[in-house]
Amino acid sequence: MKLKKIELIIFIQVLLCITLLFSSCKNSTNKNSEIGPISRDSLLIIRYEKLLNYPVTKDGFPRSMDGKSGEVRKVPSKDWCSGFFPGSLWNLYKLTEDNAYKEKATVWTANMEDQKLNGGTHDMGFKMYCSYGEGYEVTKDKTYKEIIITSANTLITRFNKNVGSLRSWDFNKDIWEFPVIIDNMMNLELLFEATKMSGDSIYHKIAVKHANTTLKNQFRADNSVNHVVVYDTINGKVKMKVTHQGFNDDSSWARGQSWAIYGFTMAYRYTKDPAYLAQAEATAKFFMEHLNLPNDGIPYWDFNHPDIPNVPRDVSAATIMGSALFELYSFTKNKTYLNFANKVLDNLQTANYILDKDVEAPFILKHSTGNGPKDDEMDGPINYADYYFLEALLRKKEL
Ligand code: GLY
Repeated sequence: MKLKKIELIIFIQVLLCITLLFSSCKNSTNKNSEIGPISRDSLLIIRYEKLLNYPVTKDGFPRSMDGKSGEVRKVPSKDWCSGFFPGSLWNLYKLTEDNAYKEKATVWTANMEDQKLNGGTHDMGFKMYCSYGEGYEVTKDKTYKEIIITSANTLITRFNKNVGSLRSWDFNKDIWEFPVIIDNMMNLELLFEATKMSGDSIYHKIAVKHANTTLKNQFRADNSVNHVVVYDTINGKVKMKVTHQGFNDDSSWARGQSWAIYGFTMAYRYTKDPAYLAQAEATAKFFMEHLNLPNDGIPYWDFNHPDIPNVPRDVSAATIMGSALFELYSFTKNKTYLNFANKVLDNLQTANYILDKDVEAPFILKHSTGNGPKDDEMDGPINYADYYFLEALLRKKEL
């Protein structure tokens, strides 16, 4: 069939358009793809520098930003979120090898030291391991090591032998005799490391006891996890299973699932107990195959919220999960985990989730949800989402 000249020109133009369309689709997953007028990597560097340049104050750790007003919520070192900000700066140093990040991380970390003796909370691991632990990995500073061991000594004062767990919270004592939340698994890394650093097995043994009690009582038949399990301190029996940050007691709070997957994968790293690995895999399957999980892999803040899809996402649940899956892949070599983690990380590095370059706040990602039932920290940037995002980038790089 012979084409006339005009038909030939149209045919070539259509061919060109198709080629362009395909190449732009392909580039959208490339390392340095465009986000609006600037490249993805340039935008990330701009965001990283907002963390670097945030003014240091003794009691002003940036925790979150109000999604609507843009106001930054600052917290003192005793807040459970304080350590993530210095932790992100250490991770940025590891990613960029720029000493400026290390210098700032050192100053912010020093402002955490008073927490080593704060026995009123289980959040010691979040606070002290994310700051001093990350810093020790870089500096091998002996003072950091001593602070980590002191912090572990303080944390184990919350262990109850009858229950076989570390107590999570002290509030609501009239109703919750001895609450243990799934998030508490994350504090075990501090204990495992304290044994490695000191040679004293007590921290490791308590961590294993806590993980075993959690494994026995916190999971449901479908491998989703309860947020809070309340125990009797005398006979050690379970008194009730409830939620604090989920939609209701029977629902699956997204970040809770991520803490479980991360926590048991990390506990497997130190113990090689196959039961921990099996639980991490089973809960990861629950998360990845959930019918209410959006295609981009970033969950709504609760998997069972009745208003889905008109519900805010929780990017922090995605970054914690993504980071955990890179480690889960390293143990199992199951490509499902690697592919899912890569997908989540790629989707997060788009204009949908990275804060705009002009937002003057020390955060990288938007769309996290802190506490849905309290309508607190809804759909905005939160520092732990950034911390685990940077950790996931590092883990991907190491793989
Ligand atoms: N550890 C509290 C939270 O995940 O919000």
